[in-house]
Amino acid sequence: MLTIRDLVKVYPGPVTALQGIHLDIPQGMFGLLGPNGAGKSTLMRILAGLLEPTAGQVSLHGEDILKDPQKVRRHLGYLPQDFGFYPHLSGEKMLAHLLTLKGVTARGRSLRKLCSELLERVNLSAAAGRKVKSYSGGMRQRLGIAQAIAGDPRLIIVDEPTAGLDPEERLRFYHLLAELAKDRIVLLSTHIVEDVAVLCPRFALIRQGRLLACSRPSEAVAEVEGTIYEGSVAPEELDRLRSQHRVTQSLLVEGRNRVRIYQPEGSPPEGFLPVVTSLEDAYLVAMGNAQAGGIAEVPEGRHPNSQTEPTPQAPAPEGMS
Ligand SMILES: Nc1ncnc2c1ncn2[C@@H]1O[C@H](COP(=O)(O)OP(=O)(O)OP(=O)(O)O)[C@@H](O)[C@H]1O
Ligand SMILES: [Mg+2]
Repeated sequence: MLTIRDLVKVYPGPVTALQGIHLDIPQGMFGLLGPNGAGKSTLMRILAGLLEPTAGQVSLHGEDILKDPQKVRRHLGYLPQDFGFYPHLSGEKMLAHLLTLKGVTARGRSLRKLCSELLERVNLSAAAGRKVKSYSGGMRQRLGIAQAIAGDPRLIIVDEPTAGLDPEERLRFYHLLAELAKDRIVLLSTHIVEDVAVLCPRFALIRQGRLLACSRPSEAVAEVEGTIYEGSVAPEELDRLRSQHRVTQSLLVEGRNRVRIYQPEGSPPEGFLPVVTSLEDAYLVAMGNAQAGGIAEVPEGRHPNSQTEPTPQAPAPEGMS
């Protein structure tokens, strides 16, 4: 169990990035879901022992991890949000370099053998000799995971690992993370609701350094069941609708706005029908509730039912050198 108590981080500025986070993270996959600037990376960097908190306590299986970050780092795998690779090194050489930096010892085996085992584990054996610059986004993330799992850590922290992956690579990455979470804590931060819906039996929602919820996806969905309605309005009617109802999503389709509204009580506007709710609905409602007097809205151009990221970055073509 990873236990986080009253964690506060104030950056110079001052910017309060974490405002007293209180969380218990059990074995398995745990999602930390929140928009840009919510404080996800700050939290993860503190847990990884790379950043000192302003206040608060963190313990892993009862051991204070803030007191001796060096010691804990040995039991920890961390994949940062922006992972730096040397593009001209092969995957295998890059991994060997990262393991050396991390201080991972091969325990009797050669470093080369250890790298080859790790590359096998993340399904990169066939690309081991290729330069990292020829890797797709997903392959790079898997290489990042290979260094994170070296030394068989009890806790793996992955910061926004699926951002920029195409759907196929994301799926492959999901399988890898799910496999890793069988016998350890895997903490995944993301702003992609689908990551949590697919992977995480438990998740926490954070925004502006505050914890909004800690729940199971199914429970979060059940909470908004029966409160979301969908209908279609002309673009000129949208402002009026917004002034009277809580619009959570809108998408322009063939010149009209397909709109979702959150209506916990009272009747919906004419022509609006109840929909089967998703975790994305729950997320948007929670964000909207947290935003004083405002509404969290999905940008135009995104399908209301879609739980995938709007613009995944295309991976570099395979075979490019
Ligand atoms: N080194 C820093 N100095 C000052 N402010 C910072 C620093 N790093 C982060 N912040 C601020 O702290 C807040 C939380 O940032 P953080 O990077 O933890 O959020 P995040 O949830 O990881 O966002 P993203 O989804 O964009 O990665 C933001 O307001 C950010 O601007
Ligand atoms: Mg971040």
